[in-house]
Amino acid sequence: MKRDYEGDRLSCPKGQLNLSPPAAPVSRRLILASGLALAACGREPALSQPIPEPPLKSLAPFPIGTCVRAPDLEDPAYAGLAARHFSQLTAEWEMKMEYVVQPDGSFRFDRADAIAAFARRNGQRLFGHTLLWYANEPEGFARLDESRQSFEGALRNYVTAMVSRYRGLASGWDVINEPVMENGEGLRDSLWSRKLGQTGQFKVAFEAARAADPAAVLFVNDYHLESRPAKLRTYMTLIEQLLKDGVPLGGIGCQTHCWSELAPGAITATLKALAGFGLPIHLSEMDVSTVQGGMLANRAEAERRQARLYGEAIEAFAALPERQQFAFTVWGLRDRDSWLKRENAQDRPLLFDDAGRPKPTFAAIVDALRAR
Ligand code: XIL
Repeated sequence: MKRDYEGDRLSCPKGQLNLSPPAAPVSRRLILASGLALAACGREPALSQPIPEPPLKSLAPFPIGTCVRAPDLEDPAYAGLAARHFSQLTAEWEMKMEYVVQPDGSFRFDRADAIAAFARRNGQRLFGHTLLWYANEPEGFARLDESRQSFEGALRNYVTAMVSRYRGLASGWDVINEPVMENGEGLRDSLWSRKLGQTGQFKVAFEAARAADPAAVLFVNDYHLESRPAKLRTYMTLIEQLLKDGVPLGGIGCQTHCWSELAPGAITATLKALAGFGLPIHLSEMDVSTVQGGMLANRAEAERRQARLYGEAIEAFAALPERQQFAFTVWGLRDRDSWLKRENAQDRPLLFDDAGRPKPTFAAIVDALRAR
């Protein structure tokens, strides 16, 4: 059922309700008739003000998150949407090494601090994303002169600086992001694995993060687990090994970047498989591309499937045991904010349209949460 929150306006369009003052003196009959007309519409005349859509965070028994960028939070419309609907914020990129670590090895926290301050002001949790990522190998580390400071020491120092800075506000951290190869045939090669070894990078990063904030839930996080069985298998094997090695892994991230053509049930099966470890699950970066799977030819069908996938994901997440419902996070606010737009301007992957109005994807999540 497609609910359009415009549809929550008075069911009697303004034209049918003559609200202008009558020419003749107001008779008792007229007052009664007006009251009956209004009652027929079920609501007091809102003078065509739409009934605002329900805040997502008020409907979910678990944190609902989104990713944000610090400069966007200076736009009142954007900030209002982020504050109204979400109970957790992830920095889209300003808490990554690519922003924090300067070429000379110094750190800059200005934008991460701005996002943290916004979250604090709005009673939202902050989620730390991400400490180590194969895609970020900043000069400050790559050029490290290990005669002065060991690589491991520099990495411990970085993790400690980041995690301790947001201690008490950050509910958790993606300690290592996307460790599994795209084709699932092993773990990625990275500056971190080359310097510390595959298992060593996890030990150093997780132990430093644990020491910096004993309360934070420490995650590993990856994507395309719903559509690549080999990748899911390797990810689960890695998780088993980390737990066996005593690495303080406290949660499992499933990014859920997908597209309209993803088979119904794939998200549900993946969450169930990952939940088998008994750890908290962060559905950490959901967006559903309406063009990547080639569905652009039939946009209406792509958007119907997209809404169904959002509904499936929230239902599957809500079906997890409560102690495993860490957070459900979408990767961006409005379609125009999505990173996917850079790849294809036609893409509409998120819950709100470019003007910040809720879409059928939003309604699918609301309906699923209300049906629980
Ligand atoms: C992306 C951001 O959305 C982009 O703005 C940035 O340029 C690159 O990173 N998986 C992740 C995220 O874990 O950090 C990525 O975010 C998207 C894929």
